[in-house]
Amino acid sequence: MDVKEKIKKVAVLGAGDMGHGIAEVCAMVGYEVTMRDIKQEFVDRGMNRIKESLAKLQEKGKISNAEEVLSRIKPVVDLEEAVKDADLIIEAVPEIFEIKTQVFSDCESLAKPECIFTSNTSTIKITELAKATKREDKFAGLHFFNPPVLMRLVEVIKGEKTSEEVMQLLVDFVKSLGKEAVRVEKDVPGFIVNRVQAPSGALLMAIVEKGIASPEEIDAKMKTIGLPMGPFELMDYTGVDIFYHAMKYYSETISKDYAPPKILEDMVKSGNLGKKTGKGWYDWSKGRPEIKASPSEKINPLDFTIVEINEAVKLVEMGVAKPEDIDKAVKLGLNRPFGPFELAKSMGVEQIVKRLEELSAEFGKEIFKPAETLKAGKLPV
Ligand SMILES: NC(=O)c1ccc[n+]([C@@H]2O[C@H](COP(=O)([O-])OP(=O)(O)OC[C@H]3O[C@@H](n4cnc5c(N)ncnc54)[C@H](O)[C@@H]3O)[C@@H](O)[C@H]2O)c1
Repeated sequence: MDVKEKIKKVAVLGAGDMGHGIAEVCAMVGYEVTMRDIKQEFVDRGMNRIKESLAKLQEKGKISNAEEVLSRIKPVVDLEEAVKDADLIIEAVPEIFEIKTQVFSDCESLAKPECIFTSNTSTIKITELAKATKREDKFAGLHFFNPPVLMRLVEVIKGEKTSEEVMQLLVDFVKSLGKEAVRVEKDVPGFIVNRVQAPSGALLMAIVEKGIASPEEIDAKMKTIGLPMGPFELMDYTGVDIFYHAMKYYSETISKDYAPPKILEDMVKSGNLGKKTGKGWYDWSKGRPEIKASPSEKINPLDFTIVEINEAVKLVEMGVAKPEDIDKAVKLGLNRPFGPFELAKSMGVEQIVKRLEELSAEFGKEIFKPAETLKAGKLPV
C-alpha cells in the first residue's frame, strides 16, 4: 500500500526552527498538517516563517502553489485538536528529556491507537523517549537537518522495540518528501551524523581548556583548509546551548570524557548562546564577527578528521549502520564532500591508529582510543 494511503494527516509538535520547516516540507508534498505550539504567538511566528519561505520558493520558480500548500497547514495551540486525527506525529519541541516525555505521554491518550509517534531529537535515545508511551513498537526517530526545506537527509532511527513495518513505512514517508532516508539500525546517543562529530567537539573543548589555542586561533586555522566557517563561529551560529546540551547528554550516556568544560557551562548560565543572543564565543552585535587572530600552529586540522573516522568505525562495530550509509549521512547531513570512510581510505590505518593513541594520551581521554577494527589494522567493509 502506498505510504499516502496510510499516512494522510501529520501533526508537527513545536513550531520553532525545525517544526515550522518540517510542517512546510510535509504540506508541500500534499500531507494535511497540524502544527502545534504552546502559545498562539509561537504558532503565528512559525506560520509567518512558512509563508516567507513558500513565497521565496515561488519567486524562484520551485513551486507554483504557495497558497494551496499553506492552506494544508492548520496552526493550533490545543494539543487534542493537533493530534486526534493524526496518522503520524513528529515531535520537534526543545531538546529537554522531561519536556519531550511529557509531550508524548500527553499524546498517548489523545491520539489514535494506530498513530505512529516520532521524535526529531538530535541526540536522545529513542528507546528512552518511547517508554513514555504504550506504543513502543510504533515509536521511532525521524531526524531532519536544519533547514528541513533544503537539507536532503533524514535519519530514520529504530528504537529497541520499533517494528520493522513502522521502519519501512517511515523510510517510504521520507522518500515521499523527496528526501534521502538513512536507517539507523541501533539506537545510540547522537545516532549517526551528530555522533560521528561528538569526539571532534570534545577535542575542540579539550584544546581550549588546556590553553593550547584560543577559539579564534582555531577558527582561523580551520579556515585555512577551506572551511567556510570555523567550528566556534559555527557553534555560535547554531547555538552554544545546543552544543552544551549534547555534550552533557553524551557525558551521562557515553563517557565522562564528554563532560562540558566550565567555560562552556559558564557561557550557557550567563545566556551567552551565540548569534541569537548577540554574544557567544564572539560578539555578534554588529553582524558576523571578523576573525583577526593568526591561525594556530599548535593544532592539526587532520586530528578532527581522525577522531571522527574512529567514531564512525565504532558505530559500524556497534551495528548502528553500514560504512556506506555513514558516509552518505555525513555528506548529506553536513554538506561535506567526503564521508569518514572515504577519507580513511586515503590515509592509511596505521597513521590513524598512531595519532589516536597520541591524542588519547595527550588529553587523557579514552574516547580517542582506536576502535578494535582499526587496531587490527583494518577498516570495516
Ligand atoms: N536546530 C537545529 O539545528 C536542529 C536540527 C535537528 C534537530 N533538532 C532538534 O529539533 C528539536 C527542536 O529544535 P528547534 O531548533 O526547532 O528548537 P526551537 O527552540 O526553535 O523550537 C522549539 C519549539 O517548541 C515549542 N514548545 C515547547 N514546549 C512545547 C510543547 N509542549 N508542545 C509544543 N511545542 C512546544 C517552543 O515554544 C518552540 O517554539 C530539538 O529536539 C532539537 O534537538 C534541531
